Amino acid sequence: MTDTQAIKDRLDIVQIIGEYVRLKKAGINWKANCPFHNEKSPSFMVQPEKQFWHCFGCSKGGDVFSFLQEMEGVDFSEALKILADRAGVKLDSYASEVNKSQKNRIIEINNKATYFFNHFLSEMPAAEAARDYLKRRELTTETITEWQVGFIPEQWDLLTKYLLNKGNSIDDLLASGLAIKKDGGGFYDRFRGRIMFPIWDAHGNVVGFTGRILVETEKSGGKYVNTPQTLVFDKSRLLYGLNKAKTEIKAKDFTVLVEGQMDVIACHQAGMKNVVASSGTALTMEQIKLLKRYSNNIAIAFDADAAGQNAAKRGIDLALEQGMSIKIIQIPPGAGKDADECIKKDKDVWFKAVESAKEVMDWYFTNAVVGVNKNDPKQKQKIAEVLLAEIARLPYAVERDHWLKKLADEIGVDRSVLVAEMSRVVAQAKRYPDNSHANLASKPASPSIAAASQENWEEKGKIHLLAENFFALLLKFPQLFAQHAPGLRSEFFEHTPLAGLYESLKKHYNGNIDIMVVKNSLTKEEQSAIDILVLKTDKDYSGFDAQQTSKELSILLGAIKSEWQKNKRQKLFVELKEAEKNGDPEAVQKILKEIMELEK
Ligand code: UTP
Ligand code: MN
Repeated sequence: MTDTQAIKDRLDIVQIIGEYVRLKKAGINWKANCPFHNEKSPSFMVQPEKQFWHCFGCSKGGDVFSFLQEMEGVDFSEALKILADRAGVKLDSYASEVNKSQKNRIIEINNKATYFFNHFLSEMPAAEAARDYLKRRELTTETITEWQVGFIPEQWDLLTKYLLNKGNSIDDLLASGLAIKKDGGGFYDRFRGRIMFPIWDAHGNVVGFTGRILVETEKSGGKYVNTPQTLVFDKSRLLYGLNKAKTEIKAKDFTVLVEGQMDVIACHQAGMKNVVASSGTALTMEQIKLLKRYSNNIAIAFDADAAGQNAAKRGIDLALEQGMSIKIIQIPPGAGKDADECIKKDKDVWFKAVESAKEVMDWYFTNAVVGVNKNDPKQKQKIAEVLLAEIARLPYAVERDHWLKKLADEIGVDRSVLVAEMSRVVAQAKRYPDNSHANLASKPASPSIAAASQENWEEKGKIHLLAENFFALLLKFPQLFAQHAPGLRSEFFEHTPLAGLYESLKKHYNGNIDIMVVKNSLTKEEQSAIDILVLKTDKDYSGFDAQQTSKELSILLGAIKSEWQKNKRQKLFVELKEAEKNGDPEAVQKILKEIMELEK
């Protein structure tokens, strides 16, 4: 730990971050447009004194190490190495060396397991059924070797025993995810009775496995089992096949994204080698960053079922926001449900489908108008709303304009109508992510409510967000506490992480507030939350004087109270129903009284 502090002390966080984003001075701090999400006004702050950064838009934050990790897509030990170098700090004593060598040992273990699985598949009589199965799926021997496909029979601890015999420690086997500790003592294999696929990172290290069940039975678990999160395996940062596909992706300048291991292998075997898989989940930010290193263009094929499409849509939206160009591959009806099936039936159909992949916006357009009567004004409005939300996501103005024109043509309205409508749709999506706080938004404009509503209401809860703004301001002007204290109640904050702060303020207020005293009475987490709150005041209220602040505090407090009342009222009505159902007149009376009280 002392190493990291030594590095931080020698480096200027403003300088390091400044190499990636344009920082502007804000008080004693610095601000910028956040590099980790798309935004128009800066909510990314750097606080040099405390050596940390925080984004109020996407809630990411941390120290210079975590910044580098996010920015460069590297893990902690790599970030440490890079920054230690820059700071001229030697890392020999560092504890991560322990982790690092365990990382190497896990990869070593994975290599041995890969050999074991592949050897078992190719040589062992007990793998007869597995070999037949792969033959039926038309994998050639060369393909099996190239992808090091393997097999492990249905036994308890065949692999664990083998690897222990090879001199590996049980700790390392557990850390690799290959062995699992039994409740009653002893160990067993995670993968049993499965076709095994090693999973490589982009550099070609085997970091984990996925195993497909050979014979499905009631107790065989999922169709696919994956290595859990380990020191070297993080599913959200991996794309299956990338190590083998990256050269071709660069050469062709586009990636084909499919859903499963078998799809990737079938494509490569058929001669299409710019193909990777996300292993059945929506694309993550990390995977998008990884892909962007090789090409900005991507064609996506996913299963036709609706669930698959919804999950995929999240990934697509994220990639669009990152400025990627996206096409959707549609396998014609009857030609198979995924790439693997389609290739097996007719590989030309698959190649054609990839070649004629549709621009994602075109695809959204097609989907939006299916079965809709374009002469019905209500349905037209609906189409416009759906598509405007998508168009608004595009980070480039020229592209947005192109699709606006197309939409205008499509539903026969003037483009200028759509431009106005787009601002409304976007404002609404921002202001009412859960469609229920119209009352707040119609209050007189307040910068803190505006700021709070840009963040995600649903994730944190409205009271928490409003309270953050309230206390952020209060910490800047502690003398205003007395004036607003009568309106404050512990109950408002009891379900937020700010409860401790409020209680401490109450306790330590003596005409003024010594922030240090308040801080020292709180937990470590609460203290760093306060550092972030103080930073927030510099971002949202830099020019505020005491009078403006006081007005703002009143507005916020009003919003907090009405939100709290709303929640409480809902809770009481549920209790009331319950009491009525139970035929308990006393309880009914009591609850009714509480409801009346609430309105005061
Ligand atoms: P699918 O269910 O579409 O399987 O899952 P598939 O790839 O077509 O497999 P085959 O053709 O039946 O052998 C797509 C991908 O989602 C992941 C796997 O990576 C799989 O390839 N998945 C699926 C899991 O991780 N766990 C599961 O239980 C199912
Ligand atoms: Mn399949």
